[in-house]
Amino acid sequence: MTLTSAQIDEITSAALVAIGSATDLEALKEVRIGHVGDRSPIARANQALGSMEVSERAEFGKVIGKGRSTINTAFEARQKELEVERDARVLIEERVDVSIAARRTPQGGLHPLTLLTNEICDLFIGLGYRVAEGPELESEWLNFDSLNIPADHPARTMQDTFFIEPLDSRLVLRTHTSPVQMRTMLEEQPPIYVICPGRTYRADELDATHTPVFSQVEGLVVDRGITMADLKGTLDYFARAIFGPDVKTRLRPSFFPFTEPSAEVDFFFNGRWIEWGGCGMVNPKVLRAAGIDPQEFSGFAFGMGLERTLMVKHGITDMHDIVEGDIRFSQNFGSGLR
Ligand code: PHE
Repeated sequence: MTLTSAQIDEITSAALVAIGSATDLEALKEVRIGHVGDRSPIARANQALGSMEVSERAEFGKVIGKGRSTINTAFEARQKELEVERDARVLIEERVDVSIAARRTPQGGLHPLTLLTNEICDLFIGLGYRVAEGPELESEWLNFDSLNIPADHPARTMQDTFFIEPLDSRLVLRTHTSPVQMRTMLEEQPPIYVICPGRTYRADELDATHTPVFSQVEGLVVDRGITMADLKGTLDYFARAIFGPDVKTRLRPSFFPFTEPSAEVDFFFNGRWIEWGGCGMVNPKVLRAAGIDPQEFSGFAFGMGLERTLMVKHGITDMHDIVEGDIRFSQNFGSGLR
């Protein structure tokens, strides 16, 4: 093979043109294969040196060496240039704007009813009570009969109670938390000190002051020598803890089939008496139905609606706000999460 300096010059300038016209690193890689790498014309020319006359080798060796180093230098310079360009571009394209407001994951809030339930349970646990719970789908016997509410009692009519079909299942959505009293007394012997929070159901329309699904908390104490004074003292303590240290309570005579005597409990708040719930001494008939001897033990029970308690405590005027579950409503009460 014969080579002329002119050919080497051509090869070199073709390589320089190609290098110069590579506009990004990807293109430059191609140029490397065609003009710089092992199979490029200049590399081949170098390999051809071997088959040259020794006398020509030295001279051409210089020409080719010069060509190669020109190409390599140009290639490396271009490579650097394109790398700098790429780095500058990446800095702009992948820039992180640290001043952009971060996407926040909103923190949920416990519903104020849950917060109030927790507060009440904590309060009574502090008095030595235990939290007791029962099913919302309850037997008619536990919800009514065992509590001395006879079959012809108005509370059992279709307007108040959600009965479960088929009707001979004898199941209802519990209309109060009092069946948990009965469950507790059936399972345990006195002394009994329980607080029973839970969801309850009555066939009311949802309006500003009523909701068919509501919450009650029931307290039950059965022990030796329990009197109405214990009930009154407990209610006073309860009311003061929830509504403030100056709150007074009063009992008004009333009737519940499962307590005897029975009373309504009111509390004096913001200058007026407000109805809070029902209470009384556990009816001896109910104690007997639970297998507890009324000669030896006596007890008191009380029950109040939590929605009503919440409305009075926080000046909420519309029941819809409590049941609709709008997070903006709940957040006003704090998350309760620590
Ligand atoms: N269970 C009654 C109600 O829902 C309230 C109550 C509870 C009354 C305990 C007396 C004793 O109306």
